[in-house]
Amino acid sequence: MECTAEADTWVGSAPGKLILFGEHAVVYGQPAIAVPVTGVQARATVTGGEAGSGVWLVCCDLPPCEDRGLLPTPDGGAPASGCRYALRGAAADDPLRGAVALALARFSDAERGISGMEPDIVLTITSTIPIARGLGSGAAVATAVIRSLAAYFGRQPSNDEVSGLVFEVEKLFHGTPSGIDNTVIAYQQPVYFVRGEGMTPLRVGSPFSLVIADSGAPSSTREVVGTVRQRWHAEPQRYDALFDSIGAIARIARRHIETGDWRSMAGLMDENQALLEQMGVSSPALDRLIEAARSAGAVGAKLSGAGRGGCILAAAERHAIAAVSGALRSAGAAQVLVTEVA
Ligand code: PMV
Repeated sequence: MECTAEADTWVGSAPGKLILFGEHAVVYGQPAIAVPVTGVQARATVTGGEAGSGVWLVCCDLPPCEDRGLLPTPDGGAPASGCRYALRGAAADDPLRGAVALALARFSDAERGISGMEPDIVLTITSTIPIARGLGSGAAVATAVIRSLAAYFGRQPSNDEVSGLVFEVEKLFHGTPSGIDNTVIAYQQPVYFVRGEGMTPLRVGSPFSLVIADSGAPSSTREVVGTVRQRWHAEPQRYDALFDSIGAIARIARRHIETGDWRSMAGLMDENQALLEQMGVSSPALDRLIEAARSAGAVGAKLSGAGRGGCILAAAERHAIAAVSGALRSAGAAQVLVTEVA
């Protein structure tokens, strides 16, 4: 399987993302804060295909198709040759198919149906973003695909347009996404996000470092968001109060980030984590990593994303980063990344 693209290529890429404050509550209208994580990336490359071939997808550097979770399995089974398959054979709810179809409808000249005038191209997708870990892999892959197809058709969509298209893809497999993932990833900058209010850039008064640790356990956003919704229906007052408290924390955290007081912001991570625990979205593995980070000197730590699995983040002084990273590895983290917020 050819995993490198040659001449006449059109490329799109996108970073991962990390939610600092406000996950879950953001679905219910509260503000949230997220930043791009540029140390991990999704990349899509378009090259010309054989005449009459239509669109072929080649997914390199991704787990085997049958294990990909958020990514598609063509025809409901593992493909004959790695992760190479024709768009025509992809399942109707395949998010990659969704991203390609939306991009073709928006960027190709005529209103061409996906099975009608498909271009003859090969779309090669690579990603270093761990899947289903709260780092925005699905939105980043969709963003990279949409940007590469826009380039192929000679278009230069705005960040807002890309974000809107990725949001449509997110709805295919997340159910009720707030829109924070597509926004922070399409704009590639820190955002203060309120559902339905579009993008508000977040000014970072003084750069700070975050340590991200992957628990190694997948987290299904759709499932966890669905569970929180059921609980909210069962105990509306209790959950509304939790969402309100988280929203209040996100508003204060925004001020601390803008004024460069990241240590006070880090303290709020602990408060946000306590509320996420009360909401029932943490897990023993996440709690263990958070405790390890705090014991090794992190100023604050919390889970990030939907929870139950996925990643935690910890804010630490620069001189403590190595110790915090080491403690997280010793506590069982599958991967540790350090990212700078600026
Ligand atoms: O798990 P992730 O990275 O997809 O983040 C989900 C964030 C939630 O607030 C739980 C859901 C949403 O749509 O905002």
